Amino acid sequence: MEAKEYIEKVKEIVKNKELKYHILTMGCQLNENDSEKISGMLTQMGYIQTDTVEEADLLLYNTCCVRENAEEKLFGKIGEVKKQKEQKGTIIAIGGCMMQEKHIVEKIKQSYPYVDIVFGTHTLHKLPEDIYKILNERKRIEDILHIDGEVIEGLPIKRNDNIRASVTIMNGCNNFCSYCIVPYVRGRERSRNPKNILEEIQELAKKGYKEITLLGQNVNSYMRSERENGKIAELEYKGINSFATLLRAVNEIDGIENIKFISPHPKDFTDDVIEAIRDCKKVCKLIHLPLQSGSTQVLKFMNRKYTKEQYLELVNKIKSTIPEVVFSTDIIVGFPGETEEDFEDTLDVVRKVKFEQMFMFIYSRRVGTPGDRMENQIPEEVKHTRFNKLKQLAEEQIAKRNQEYIGTIQKVLVEGTSKNNENMLTGRTYSNKVVVFEADKSLIGKIVPIEILSEHMWYLKGKIK
Ligand code: SAH
Ligand code: SF4
Ligand code: F3S
Repeated sequence: MEAKEYIEKVKEIVKNKELKYHILTMGCQLNENDSEKISGMLTQMGYIQTDTVEEADLLLYNTCCVRENAEEKLFGKIGEVKKQKEQKGTIIAIGGCMMQEKHIVEKIKQSYPYVDIVFGTHTLHKLPEDIYKILNERKRIEDILHIDGEVIEGLPIKRNDNIRASVTIMNGCNNFCSYCIVPYVRGRERSRNPKNILEEIQELAKKGYKEITLLGQNVNSYMRSERENGKIAELEYKGINSFATLLRAVNEIDGIENIKFISPHPKDFTDDVIEAIRDCKKVCKLIHLPLQSGSTQVLKFMNRKYTKEQYLELVNKIKSTIPEVVFSTDIIVGFPGETEEDFEDTLDVVRKVKFEQMFMFIYSRRVGTPGDRMENQIPEEVKHTRFNKLKQLAEEQIAKRNQEYIGTIQKVLVEGTSKNNENMLTGRTYSNKVVVFEADKSLIGKIVPIEILSEHMWYLKGKIK
């Protein structure tokens, strides 16, 4: 494999030099998982990780472009390191989703010519080759593919955690929600081979990992494109040929205690997936079900392919199949054409579903998406007023829901010591609530019963039972 050869070549060059790298990850969990692969490659090349920008001989920015302000943030950061580049020749590499946008790459070329490597989402595995060339030739490299890359297997990976791990099960997205840039920068849906996924998770279990998060832009359409293209028979492995069968197979892996997944799409939430979640003991009963809007009209403009009623029916169906289920969601306010009445529909769904967790966003225009071309954009003040109203409702509901935890005993996967207090441990309930409690560090990595004593909006406090 080519990446491996280049890793060896770079290793020869950087040998005994104690060169350091620093990565800034700016995006979602998929982006984070890519950074772990970048870290894996750099470590194998002989680079050492550092937390500080100043110490780095190689600086890498893994970008996101799903919402505005990402651009200013990135340009600010690369402006700041110009001096460092001049003084010590730090290699600057920028990768990730934003680099799939032509106007951004153009701007970097024009305004930040000292950036050494620009690479996209389909060329991650070529980073060792890019670095090799920079070390050798010192010529600016642009390594971006505008067609879908293959699913690359076998890249080394250096994970950020040793209890919880993310496993990407598919790349890309076919949904083209009209606000969203992801399908343009990540390409079409490509599922990883089930055999590779299973082996990766088995390996993680052997290393002592307890929690797995299966990642993809639309996980419940796992292997759908492959089925439609008639490739399912050759890819199927131990009965895995869909998301539901994948969940069931991962549930069988000894050592893994918790299984999570993000994000499913409501339109693809088929009964076999609901039944698999119900039947699999290890699958977390917190389901992230992105609503985006509660108005059927806005959902249509957004190209989400479900109505308000269908979303609510789905929630009810899941609740009646899995009584202990709770939901989290993503909501966008201020999409073009959203009226006060549409916004009220969103509030209505929020009141009805009582989400456990909500990620709320102000609509942000993305170049190249249908939403950006719509004429009826919502004024900034209106978007902000609606956002604040939604946020207030969310906080009221979450506080109320937190109260219900007090006095209950929760099974908590202990993640580590609290950032603010070395003597306290933190962990999460099955519903993803952070719990802080006093206990011995030997419990890290274990699932323990915790009695909840008090709630503090973003976390709960408890004691070992
Ligand atoms: N594939 C996932 C998540 C994609 S991005 C899914 O479908 O759920 C994560 C969230 O960012 C989205 O769910 C959406 O709520 C938000 N988002 C995406 N594009 C946006 C935009 N242009 N403006 C504001 N929020 C956006
Ligand atoms: Fe974007 Fe929609 Fe695809 Fe999610 S499903 S990545 S929101 S286009
Ligand atoms: Fe993720 Fe941002 Fe890309 S949300 S897929 S890093 S655009």
